[in-house]
Amino acid sequence: MEQLKRKIEEEGTVLSEEVLKVDSFLNHQIDPELMLAVGEEFSSLFQGEGVTKIVTIESSGIAPAVMAGLKLGVPVVFARKRQSLTLTDNLLTASVYSFTKKTESTIAISAGHLSEDDNVLVIDDFLANGQAAKGLVSIVEQAGAKVCGIGIVIEKSFQHGRKELDELGIRVESLARIASLKGGKVTFLQEVRS
Ligand code: G4P
Repeated sequence: MEQLKRKIEEEGTVLSEEVLKVDSFLNHQIDPELMLAVGEEFSSLFQGEGVTKIVTIESSGIAPAVMAGLKLGVPVVFARKRQSLTLTDNLLTASVYSFTKKTESTIAISAGHLSEDDNVLVIDDFLANGQAAKGLVSIVEQAGAKVCGIGIVIEKSFQHGRKELDELGIRVESLARIASLKGGKVTFLQEVRS
């Protein structure tokens, strides 16, 4: 997605060979116009899949997921990372290990928001090692629902998340794929279009 790649080039900051800071439009301040365009892109990519619900994870997955839900005309459920006062019983959970933060956490969605008739599109802001997306897939499957695709805003293709998700046999679409952050510079993957 060219608009997203330009934004990353203009406003992204390479913090290390592994971490890209995009706080001005995705992870802290949010650019609504760009998020709408991201939602439109996900909608056109997954239009034919019969999506009934979108599942994401707080906090930075919510903006792109809501815009995709708006365009696809389906509700959006976000997994919580912290306990909630109102979300107490009948929780579906998954344990997620963050290689970046070296922490294990439990993510949860209330079983009442997913049914076995659901055909779910999973959306997240970043794909690094794929653990968050795999946790979301596990929760959807615990509900007896199907995952028809995974939509990622920014994929760091030099980490192993993409491989992990491809191994699940689920369609993965990333709107910007980063091949390297070496030399303080963002290099996108050269994609061969057929
Ligand atoms: P994984 O799910 O792909 O295995 O990712 P990992 O545990 O490594 O990432 C932990 C957190 O760091 C996630 O957000 C993820 O989106 C984010 N992250 C990973 N790599 C980058 C990066 O290069 N740049 C930025 N900006 N974020 C990255 P989180 O802590 O859950 O944050 P939030 O969703 O609450 O904002």
